[in-house]
Amino acid sequence: MSVSRFPVRILGIDTSCDDTGVGIVELAPDGSARVLANRVWSQTVHAQYGGVMPELASREHVERIDRVTGDALAEAGLEVNDLEAVAATSGPGLVGALLVGLMYGKGLAQALGVPFYAAHHLEGHIFAAASEADLKAPYLALVVSGGHTHLFDVPREGEYVLVGATRDDAAGEAFDKIARLAGLGYPGGPAISEAALRGAPDAVPFKEPLQGQKGFDFSFSGLKTAALLAHKAGAKPEDLAAGFERAAVRFLVKTTLRAAQACGRETVVVSGGVAANRALREAFAASGVRAVFPGKDLNTDNGAMIALAGAAAIRAGREPSALSEGAVAYAPLANA
Ligand code: KG4
Ligand code: ZN
Repeated sequence: MSVSRFPVRILGIDTSCDDTGVGIVELAPDGSARVLANRVWSQTVHAQYGGVMPELASREHVERIDRVTGDALAEAGLEVNDLEAVAATSGPGLVGALLVGLMYGKGLAQALGVPFYAAHHLEGHIFAAASEADLKAPYLALVVSGGHTHLFDVPREGEYVLVGATRDDAAGEAFDKIARLAGLGYPGGPAISEAALRGAPDAVPFKEPLQGQKGFDFSFSGLKTAALLAHKAGAKPEDLAAGFERAAVRFLVKTTLRAAQACGRETVVVSGGVAANRALREAFAASGVRAVFPGKDLNTDNGAMIALAGAAAIRAGREPSALSEGAVAYAPLANA
């Protein structure tokens, strides 16, 4: 079963973590894809625990998925029968949470008699940014989220070469942990960013991680330890936030620029929840490299990015996925 008519309306579902995301995109005959709807139900139940509780996440997805899908269809002004394909994240992520969206997506595709595409969560993040500028490979991709900090070289569409990754925490995870330590709330990224505006970045010393490395890895454990020590010594939360954010942003940008130069890439795609960070966007804008970011509401987890991954699969003539496709907690994207 494949898609034969254009434009193709693809519904995408992401339930990999704590957001129930459903989006719809339209793929035009010229290969461009446009987001028609993007609805995300962000689960608040986890805030009291300071981190995501997997079983609670799965239950909330079960309760919400149908309603979020209805909302996405309404936003796009479509009926369910107008859909020509369905895509859902199969990994990486929390298996119980992934299964909700994956099963729902397969069921919907089966009921409608349309093709189903299993999508990779990180590829979704990358497409969220790339499609914003109708960008095609080659480019370098920095994925910075709560679960990932990865640098991929993308020499051709659909080909991913891992050139660097975090050795410990993901960037967003470090934002979340330091925000929690400083009593700034959850999720930590936006909280740190907001507090940083009121803080003095030089008040707490943060050393650049992995100084002098030849490769393009990341590490946030040193910054976390520095924050902990400063907190114990009585540092103000806003000063911690300002110092950490500046150090993390400089480190991310510097490493990415070195990698772009080594790979000979002139364009960098920056995506994932941390790509929403204002200081990171400003630093890339000032760096001279062409940096492409996701559009509004497409930085953090969402279904539209998965619909965009589905659109890319259709554009590339990929066979639809088997309905036996399972959910996977760990799924490397790099294929070279
Ligand atoms: O992509 P995402 O929604 O989920 C994962 O796939 O992990 O990313 C969530 C992460 C959280 O750690 C959150 O604190 C971070 O993105 N984040 C930010 C900002 N907005 C969200 N980090 C820094 N600055 C922000 N403005
Ligand atoms: Zn994500």
